Amino acid sequence: MLYLVTGGAGFIGSHITDRLLADGHSVRILDNFSTGKRENIPDSAAVEVIEGDVGDYDTVCTAMKQVDIVFHEAAIASVPETVGNPLASERVNYRGTVNILEAARQADVKRVMFACSAAVYGDLPELPKREDMHIKPLSPYSVDKLASEHACQMYFLLYGLETVSLRYFNVFGPRQDPSSPYSGVISIFSDQLSHGKQPTIYGDGEQTRDFVYVADVVEANISAAAAPAAAGKAINIATGSKLSINDLLKTICNIKGQPFEPNYKPGRQGDIKHSRADISAAREYLDWQPVVGFEAGLRELFEQS
Ligand code: UD1
Repeated sequence: MLYLVTGGAGFIGSHITDRLLADGHSVRILDNFSTGKRENIPDSAAVEVIEGDVGDYDTVCTAMKQVDIVFHEAAIASVPETVGNPLASERVNYRGTVNILEAARQADVKRVMFACSAAVYGDLPELPKREDMHIKPLSPYSVDKLASEHACQMYFLLYGLETVSLRYFNVFGPRQDPSSPYSGVISIFSDQLSHGKQPTIYGDGEQTRDFVYVADVVEANISAAAAPAAAGKAINIATGSKLSINDLLKTICNIKGQPFEPNYKPGRQGDIKHSRADISAAREYLDWQPVVGFEAGLRELFEQS
């Protein structure tokens, strides 16, 4: 089997690549290295790398040749970046997905997994988030992710191309880049504590998130590639539990054995207060639930960093 992983040099894509290689598969990576890193790609004869952009249809068609299954992880992942540049978001996050779907249709690909986001839910208060509830995307990023999800479902209904949209909640783990102020909070706290810097908590720290470990997200993708009932669906990928940012920092400090004194700053504009997923659809359609979980994931992350 030949797998195409877009964004395979990035955080989640590189972990999916590792998993596929461990199972003895061949992997082609399509990545423009705007945020992905060459050191994330294993040195293996079973990996082929195409440097290119999902926004370019001809490049995508070249990358799609002979491919059986696609994991489409490439994106402009920073929400603030898309707020500053909505056209770039549309080109990469939406059109890039349509390019993948059309090239996959032409190449008779068996299934496409699409990396969607909990961002599509926006700031509506109802919890836990279920896939069939009312949603309110609030940024170019979330609008383009939602539009891509609709395109995935349309390609399934209209052309029979099997697609699965996975709505990732707050994913964390090794290789998540802490360098931007808008990077994942766990990568930022971890990096700050490692360098003896005081962590910042925005707001009162009582906002909550559903943190899911990257190895569990990888397994959700592997299940989605094979589960018959998953085709055409949009499915939350999370743990179903919530943790406040105050408790997150305490847990990290306990594991690291370092005391902490957070610096509280005003809450971020547009910050969502609470986020937690209902993961019954993942159980039903993917026969998946997180196995590593939050605390074991944190320990694994700190062992590797
Ligand atoms: C995350 C996703 C985003 C998605 C959203 C959907 C990441 C990096 N972002 O955003 O793509 O749209 O879920 O719900 O995964 N915080 C601090 N101190 C810090 C950094 C962050 O207190 O140094 C706080 C933030 O204000 C926020 C929480 O931690 O309340 C989580 O922040 P972050 O990891 O950036 O993720 P989300 O904002 O939830």
